[in-house]
Amino acid sequence: MLIRPLSQEFILPLAGFLTRQRQIETALDPRLWIAPDLEDQYVSWLNKIVPDPDEKIWLALDDDAQIYGALETRAKTLSQDDIRRTYLSPTYGLLPMGMMAVEPGCWSDILPALWEVAAAWFQRRNVTQPQAWLNLCNREALAAWEKLGFINLMDHAVGPVAAATSAATALPEGWRLRPATYRDIKHIIPLFIEELKFHADLPGAYWVQPTTDTTRLARREIEMFLSGGSDYLYLLAERISDGKIAGYMSASASPPVAWNPNAPFLPPDRGILQVAIVSTEFRNLGLGNHMLAYLLDWFHRHGMTSVSLSYDLSNPLSGPFWRKHNFVPLRRAMVYTFPI
Ligand SMILES: CC(C)(COP(=O)(O)OP(=O)(O)OC[C@H]1O[C@@H](n2cnc3c(N)ncnc32)[C@H](O)[C@@H]1OP(=O)(O)O)[C@@H](O)C(=O)NCCC(=O)NCCS
Repeated sequence: MLIRPLSQEFILPLAGFLTRQRQIETALDPRLWIAPDLEDQYVSWLNKIVPDPDEKIWLALDDDAQIYGALETRAKTLSQDDIRRTYLSPTYGLLPMGMMAVEPGCWSDILPALWEVAAAWFQRRNVTQPQAWLNLCNREALAAWEKLGFINLMDHAVGPVAAATSAATALPEGWRLRPATYRDIKHIIPLFIEELKFHADLPGAYWVQPTTDTTRLARREIEMFLSGGSDYLYLLAERISDGKIAGYMSASASPPVAWNPNAPFLPPDRGILQVAIVSTEFRNLGLGNHMLAYLLDWFHRHGMTSVSLSYDLSNPLSGPFWRKHNFVPLRRAMVYTFPI
């Protein structure tokens, strides 16, 4: 098997190969979705990647130049204003699910050779912890990455959307839920930072700690969300007596942003729950349950039929909470740490 970088003449065969592999996975898990024009999207996507110095696609070819595997390595330095600076290291490395495929039955033979070149590429770009995203139904792929030393980091789960019932909307006494306004920003920022710190403190230290710049980025992000129109919601849990904000959930019912490498794999009727946080002293009062019920009803009214979110697998609070609300994992992020 020959490993070589993608060049122009392989764009069309690769688009066909990747589309076929995504179709195979979608047949295994009906909750997976692929854009109807996926093959065309692949062609334009691949044409953009070939000249980009921060992205590289590696092909595994047999002696007849047939494609048996492909992998993208992406190493980007985030701009000063990129919100992902609040949780990712400034240069992050990614092996996106959409560009990763190996002929079924060949993963354990082909992946080590692809990873050898990918790992060297990441190291030349000073990426210390690249993340690989995979569809969970592809057990063969998961096992092959695990064998290379990748460990489980995050799950991306999908849950059902439903209109609120009266039982779900009866809040604990003394609390109310309402969408945030610009006046709330200064009260949201401490919670925003608490949520980041909570994740940065989890075992493994995969997420960066808040810095002196986090407040600026948080303010910018919240303002952008609030100005996003009716497809965006920042829902607050507020104590009626003194206006104390104890938690929030942010959600969007609009198409995914362009840098999201999963954009061609997110159905148009799937909402995204971005962040959920209840401050430590107010947990287990039922606020999380009620905010979620409100959001699911909001998604329902926006024509969404399912909702997705991602959570760190080492977070003891998230998995049980989302499972209780019928969220089922669909994709997984695995991470590799290069020895120093
Ligand atoms: C997840 C979170 C938002 C839940 O908010 P909350 O207001 O505490 O949630 P609620 O009080 O409505 O419900 C918590 C439920 O989880 C249960 N629970 C809490 N810890 C649990 C655990 N370790 N195992 C199983 N169940 C647990 C509670 O008993 C309660 O269940 P119930 O409704 O059947 O009584 C909150 O824990 C939080 O902010 N965590 C830190 C940030 C975070 O993890 N965000 C989500 C990341 S994706």
